[in-house]
Amino acid sequence: MNFYADLMKLKKGKTYQGKVEKVIYGGKGIVKIDDFVIFVEKAITGQEIEFQITKLKKTYAQGKLKKVLKKAPNEIVAKCQHFGECGGCKWQNLSYEDQLNLKSSIVKENIEQVVDADTYSYEEILPSPQKWQYRNKLDFSYGYQEMKIDKTDKENWIYHDLYPCLGFHRPKKFELIIPIEKCEISPEEANQILAIMQKFRNKHDLSVHNPKTHKGFMRNVIVRKGERTGDLLVNIIVNTQDKQEGEKKQIWEEITQDLRQLKGIVGILLTYNKSWNDAVIDGHTDVLWGQDFLHDKIGDLTFKISPESFFQTNTLGAKKLYDTVQEFAALQGSEKVLDLYCGTGTIGLYLANKAKQIYGIEIIEAAIENAKVNAKINKIENAEFICGNIDKSLNILLEKVDSQMDLVILDPPRNGVGKKALERVLKINAKKIVYVSCNPTTFARDLEILNKNGYKLKKARAVDMFPHTHHIEMVAEIVR
Ligand SMILES: C[S@@+](CC[C@H](N)C(=O)[O-])C[C@H]1O[C@@H](n2cnc3c(N)ncnc32)[C@H](O)[C@@H]1O
Repeated sequence: MNFYADLMKLKKGKTYQGKVEKVIYGGKGIVKIDDFVIFVEKAITGQEIEFQITKLKKTYAQGKLKKVLKKAPNEIVAKCQHFGECGGCKWQNLSYEDQLNLKSSIVKENIEQVVDADTYSYEEILPSPQKWQYRNKLDFSYGYQEMKIDKTDKENWIYHDLYPCLGFHRPKKFELIIPIEKCEISPEEANQILAIMQKFRNKHDLSVHNPKTHKGFMRNVIVRKGERTGDLLVNIIVNTQDKQEGEKKQIWEEITQDLRQLKGIVGILLTYNKSWNDAVIDGHTDVLWGQDFLHDKIGDLTFKISPESFFQTNTLGAKKLYDTVQEFAALQGSEKVLDLYCGTGTIGLYLANKAKQIYGIEIIEAAIENAKVNAKINKIENAEFICGNIDKSLNILLEKVDSQMDLVILDPPRNGVGKKALERVLKINAKKIVYVSCNPTTFARDLEILNKNGYKLKKARAVDMFPHTHHIEMVAEIVR
C-alpha cells in the first residue's frame, strides 16, 4: 500500500476516532486508520477513543488520548484518585488478572519475533505477592503545578511559576509537578512522609526547584522502606544554589524532629544537588539524624542498601524473581557463576549456597561496597564483587577473575546488554545464561544475537514486579 497517499489524509494536531486493537510494550494502544498505525498513550485494548495526532512519521503516528468514547468490555474503575493524570499506573483500569494476561502476552509476542513458539517453554506469569503498597522506593519531586513565561519584553522574560507542590512529574511535561495526596502503590509510611514534607514546605514557604531556570531550593524527597525489616530512610534533596535558604539550619532540626516520630525511621539525610538534572546527584550528603543506609530481606538473606544503590523496588516480588532465577539456574554446587549488572549483589548472594563461586560486576561503587558488606552480613564466603563498566571493560574485569564460568547471569537496565558487551559474554562460552530483563524488546534483540552464536532459549517466564503499571520483568534460561 502507498503510505504516503494515506498519510496525506492524516494531519498532526487533528483529532480522530478509532478502536484500540491491542497494547504493546511501553503501555501504548494501537489504533489503525486504513491500516496506518497510530500509537496512543494510556489507551487499552477494546476502548473506542478520540485521540489527537501528536507526531506523524512516514510509517506510523503517535497520538494523545483525548476522550474514551466507549469503555473496553473488561474496563474497571481505577482505585487511585490521581489515575489518568499521573503516569505511574497506566493499567489500574484493568483487573489484576487482565494486567497479568496482557503482560504475559506482550513478553511472549516479543520473544516469538525471534524464536518459534514450539522451540521453547513459555511458562505462566507469576503475580506479585502484594497488589498495592508494594513499592519500597518513592521519589517525590517538588515543583510547580503551572509555569507561564511572559515574553512581552524580549530582553527580560518574566516567569510566573504557580502553585508550588510535592508529587510526581507530569507525563510529557516533565517540568511540571502533579500534587499527590496518596499514592496507592506506596507504603502507608511514604504517604505520611509526603504529607509531612508538603506541610513543612508550606509552613516555611520554601522555594521549589524549577528545572527550566535551575532556581528554587527544595528538589526531591526520596523515601526507601525495608519491606521485611520496617526500616525507613528519608533523603531530602535540595539545590545548593540557594545559599540563603541553605543556611536556615533550624528548619532541618524541626523536620528531623517531625520525621523521627514515624515508626521505623533509621535515617534522615540531606543531599545537596547542584546539577540541573534530578537524575544526576553531584553534591554531598549530610546525615541529619541516624544512619545513611537501611536493611531489607529477601528470603533468608539480609541486605544493606545505600541511598544511591539499586535494589528491586518490590521486595516480596523480588523473592519470586530470584526463586525463578534459582530454578532456571538449577545449580548443583560445583558451578562458577558470573553475576553481571549485580547491583548490591542480591542475585549472586541468593545463589551462593548452591554454587562453588560467585563473581559479581557492577558500575556503581557504593553498590559494590554494599555487595561486599551483604556477603559479610550473610556469612557468604564464596562471593567476590568488582566495580566496573561492563560495556567498556568487561575483558579487563574478567582478567581479575577466573574466566571459566558455568553460568552467566545478565540483569541489565532497560537498554539491555547490547552487541559489544554480548560479544565479550559470548567469549566466556558458559553452558548457560540466565537473563533477567525489564524490557522484552531489548531482551528479544539480545536473544537474537545469542541465537546466532549457538545459544538457544529453553524457558521464559514473566514475573510481575510492578502491578498496575506497564512495567514488565521476565527471566529466561538460555543454553548452549
Ligand atoms: C536492573 S539492575 C540489576 C541489579 C541487581 N541484579 C538486582 O537484582 O538488584 C541493573 C544494574 O546494572 C548496573 N549497570 C548499568 N549499566 C552498567 C554497566 N555498563 N556496567 C556495569 N553495571 C551497570 C546498574 O547500576 C544497576 O545496578
